[in-house]
Amino acid sequence: MSKFLSTLIVAGLLASSTAVVAGTETTDTTEATEATTEAVAIVVDEALALKGKKVFKKCKACHKVGEGAKNGVGPLLNGIYGAEMAANADFKYSKGMKARAEESATWTDENMREFLTSPKKYVTKTKMSFKGVKEKDMDAIIEFLKSVSM
Ligand code: HEC
Repeated sequence: MSKFLSTLIVAGLLASSTAVVAGTETTDTTEATEATTEAVAIVVDEALALKGKKVFKKCKACHKVGEGAKNGVGPLLNGIYGAEMAANADFKYSKGMKARAEESATWTDENMREFLTSPKKYVTKTKMSFKGVKEKDMDAIIEFLKSVSM
């Protein structure tokens, strides 16, 4: 009789521990999925982006952003952060820019900084006649470009 009872208890323990393991596995999978999504998503520091909006005044003569933005002297910059380089089908890029796009492919934090520090150095014979963004304004302008890319 006591042997029968203990068998029942063991069976019960096994059953409940299986349930717990199954539960934990489900949660883990969900968390892992969320973590992956977060890593890909663009996270923006709003205050810094607002500062960048002011820096963007320097770009406005040639670049538009926001709803209804169109290409001007330069291509519109909605969604540019993380986008393919020189991929705006309605804009006529310089040969230099197209060549650079073949090498670097997408706009990242790093190459955007390099380009904006000195467009002419990063893209040989670029059509973008702009001498560059100052180091002190760089974080802000990058953040602003991110904010129009979400
Ligand atoms: C005098 C006009 C002018 C100004 C000012 C200017 N740009 Fe440009 N920009 C251009 C042109 C033209 C191109 C295309 C370059 C090429 O084809 O060589 C370009 C290209 C770019 C690209 C690459 C776009 C793509 O589709 O890959 C980015 C990013 C960019 N500019 C950001 C900026 C930012 C940020 C500023 C201000 C800090 C700025 N530009 C100021 C004219 C300008």
